Amino acid sequence: MHPYENYDLRENDPYLIPGSECLKNLLGAKDTTRLNLLERQISGAMLVSLNQSPIPPTFDLEHLCKIHHRLFSRVYPFAGKVREVEIAKGGRLFLPHNLIYSVSEKTFAELKRENYLQGYDQDKFCQRVGYYFGCINTIHPFREGNGRTQRILIDQLAELNGYEINWSAMSGHAIAEASAAVLAGDKSGKGLARLVRINLSRI
Ligand SMILES: Nc1ncnc2c1ncn2[C@@H]1O[C@H](COP(=O)(O)OP(=O)(O)OP(=O)(O)O)[C@@H](O)[C@H]1O
Ligand SMILES: [Mg+2]
Repeated sequence: MHPYENYDLRENDPYLIPGSECLKNLLGAKDTTRLNLLERQISGAMLVSLNQSPIPPTFDLEHLCKIHHRLFSRVYPFAGKVREVEIAKGGRLFLPHNLIYSVSEKTFAELKRENYLQGYDQDKFCQRVGYYFGCINTIHPFREGNGRTQRILIDQLAELNGYEINWSAMSGHAIAEASAAVLAGDKSGKGLARLVRINLSRI
């Protein structure tokens, strides 16, 4: 398992089965290996369903919550719900949970003011997608499943602009590194922009 898959462990996490490192779940799984296996299968199937009947893209926190709910409602009791704990990866905290609503509002209002990136050339589009991708990842609204959820919103943003992103050509490690750089202070998201740029095609 790659280290980026795991959140740093914290004491008294109410999302965990007491006395274990496994997330509470609706599948009866008691260990993380089994949970991850089932969770990947189910969310994979739900991803296909989401592609067939997408959530109407409103590009806001509610949109993210609806995507998260579709992916994980059979897996996690917190599907579609904003987290109520602090979480960290690589020794750095994501946004404090009590700021998730306000910062999301600000971020998505900025995206709206930018007309959802319509009318930019390809380089500028990638630069701005990298920035918003980094912002959304730093918000990290959910206790688990943020990566898959945010990539679907970014896909819908790309589609609106006539593009498709080939995520399967990117390594999870590369996405994690570029995401970590934003959390460490480089708010431009240029690493994420570069990844999108080399894996972008016109629809
Ligand atoms: N060290 C890090 N710092 C900041 N962000 C990170 C770091 N490592 C990974 N990430 C981001 O977190 C996402 C994973 O979050 P999470 O585990 O909640 O979602 P997921 O859907 O299970 O993951 P995945 O993206 O692996 O499918 C990654 O896709 C990446 O964007
Ligand atoms: Mg995960």
